[in-house]
Amino acid sequence: MAEAERGIPTHVAIIMDGNGRWARKRGLPRTAGHAQGAKVVEQILEDADHMGIRYLTVYAFSTENWSRPQPEVKMLMNLLRTYMKTSLAKCAKNNVRIRVIGDKSKLDVDLQKAIAGLEEDTRDNTGIGFQIAINYGARDEMRRAVTKLCEKAKSGALDPASITEETISDSLDTAGIPDPDLLIRTSGEERLSNFLMWQLSYAEFYFTDVAWPDFNKAELEKAVDAYRHRERRMGGLVR
Ligand code: IPE
Ligand code: IPE
Ligand code: MG
Repeated sequence: MAEAERGIPTHVAIIMDGNGRWARKRGLPRTAGHAQGAKVVEQILEDADHMGIRYLTVYAFSTENWSRPQPEVKMLMNLLRTYMKTSLAKCAKNNVRIRVIGDKSKLDVDLQKAIAGLEEDTRDNTGIGFQIAINYGARDEMRRAVTKLCEKAKSGALDPASITEETISDSLDTAGIPDPDLLIRTSGEERLSNFLMWQLSYAEFYFTDVAWPDFNKAELEKAVDAYRHRERRMGGLVR
């Protein structure tokens, strides 16, 4: 993989950060940042699709985000609820295939139902794959995968000696989806915050100071451009 310029990434993952700081800078409540952030997601999904990106995965709510003040958690859940009902209904029409990753069993039942409906309705769509991480944590995802595999082994359906890396990939919430090629994190932080730890093993990382509510197509193109000019290696030789 040594060509000077690569094609565009098949799968882009985004840690959408900085909603709170964006709002504070404008003298607005943090929730205003989240509301603006939700609009940006919708637009970026469309832009990514037009650019030819085949999979987009966004981090919307982490397993750690429950520790935020209750009113903020409630607002975020309501935002996701609205999002499932309105914007995402559009996805069904636009040939988008939706999957929510994370532990859905901890979400309110009506939200779980809305998610299940959307996943079902868009299952056979052939356009961009859109994964939304809600109550997602990579450690929790791996814990759930280990439990699943152990249960299979206990019942005799799985021989522990036969477990491969693929067995593990197939037991994660992202089963069947290729690993991200590019990870973007907005708003200046440079850490993973428990996002897709297994799947990002060989992704290129791109950090920008732009806050998520200010992110747009031009910023996405900048990130993709940086990716295209990187020489990607997977353990091979430097050329
Ligand atoms: C990202 O923005 C959105 C979520 C984590 C839900 P933040 O809310 O983390 O914004 P900052 O990092 O506090 O500015
Ligand atoms: C990560 O952002 C989670 C999401 C973007 C949903 P956070 O803002 O919660 O992460 P930390 O706490 O700064 O690591
Ligand atoms: Mg943050």
